[in-house]
Amino acid sequence: MSSLLKVAHEDKPYSEEHLDFTGLQPSFRVDLRRFSEQEYNKFVTMNTVSDWSSLSWKDVGRPYEVKANSKDRDQYEQEFGKSMSVHTSWQYFNRAFHEWFVKDVPTEQQEKKDAFKKSLVSFNPKAIKAALGDVARIQLWNYAHRIEDGVWDPRGKRALFEGLDVKKPRILFLGAAEGYEAMQLAAMYPGAEVVMVDYDEYCKTTRFQEFPETYPFLGHNPNTGQTSVYYKDDFNIEYVVDDIRNLDYGKEFDIVLSVGLLEHFPDEYKPEVVDWHRKFLKTDGYAIFTTPRNQFKSRMYYRIMADVMNHTYRELMTVEQMGLYIYENGFDIVQSGFIKVHNGVVAKAR
Ligand SMILES: C[S@@+](CC[C@H](N)C(=O)[O-])C[C@H]1O[C@@H](n2cnc3c(N)ncnc32)[C@H](O)[C@@H]1O
Repeated sequence: MSSLLKVAHEDKPYSEEHLDFTGLQPSFRVDLRRFSEQEYNKFVTMNTVSDWSSLSWKDVGRPYEVKANSKDRDQYEQEFGKSMSVHTSWQYFNRAFHEWFVKDVPTEQQEKKDAFKKSLVSFNPKAIKAALGDVARIQLWNYAHRIEDGVWDPRGKRALFEGLDVKKPRILFLGAAEGYEAMQLAAMYPGAEVVMVDYDEYCKTTRFQEFPETYPFLGHNPNTGQTSVYYKDDFNIEYVVDDIRNLDYGKEFDIVLSVGLLEHFPDEYKPEVVDWHRKFLKTDGYAIFTTPRNQFKSRMYYRIMADVMNHTYRELMTVEQMGLYIYENGFDIVQSGFIKVHNGVVAKAR
């Protein structure tokens, strides 16, 4: 009996006893900090635009296009003499990015530093440059994902997703990858039924499958009215491997969500991508979009991590630019804002 209890505890190491705890695991930060109204403005800046109808492209300018390609993409294009298809580029991206989420970061930091010291005595400039690049990338990943928690950013995401008028929502996650944000929503709006869609099968079999069972999501307990801690296996999730363009759902979802999708399409495709969010949405449902921010730190990140991140077309935007794409394509903006590294818009179809 006692060993059974111990296993259960190890599987789900955090509970309501750990509210307000934050601490580092080898691969990620655990963040169970709640926030007061006063603290809220520290990690989210909301509703900087009061009238979207008065904004024009002349006012907001154009997004910034990330130009540095990954080495793998360049090599592929040289070898095959043609450009990489969009689907293949996502397959490369998902494999490259996933490797970083499963790293034991402190161990790898030490290994890369040792390798750099060793490279110095080789007096081989190419080897030294490569080893230094490895040190820079693992240090940057440690800072961006583990210390700052900028990629998952649970407090920021919760602030963006707060206040939706939904009960036991059906949630559709378009281009779901590992599925983080739909799980955060499911913790906040319990009883949710989540459908994740990604046309790269690796996202279902590996990125989502290997998402840590022990990662705690802070949410709501409708029975007690209190804050509660949830884990991946507490959620009702169906993972569909298909192209978004093949889906044949009706207007049956309370929330349709994408994270880091819109910015991968040049302007001529953006109306279609925005429309994907409307197609399966109930009349009163919420479309939620997030995209990476155009800020100095992010431009540096995509340059240093080019080999990991840049297999596909990518833009960085301001929240005004993202909101204008969404507004112009038939949505009213309910709330908008930016968190550490992403912009977020919650919208309703007009
Ligand atoms: C940039 S990722 C989303 C960001 C994500 N949070 C991450 O950590 O990688 C976009 C995802 O959308 C998927 N995707 C792109 N176009 C798609 C389409 N037409 N149908 C289905 N999935 C698509 C890609 O396979 C990829 O996994």
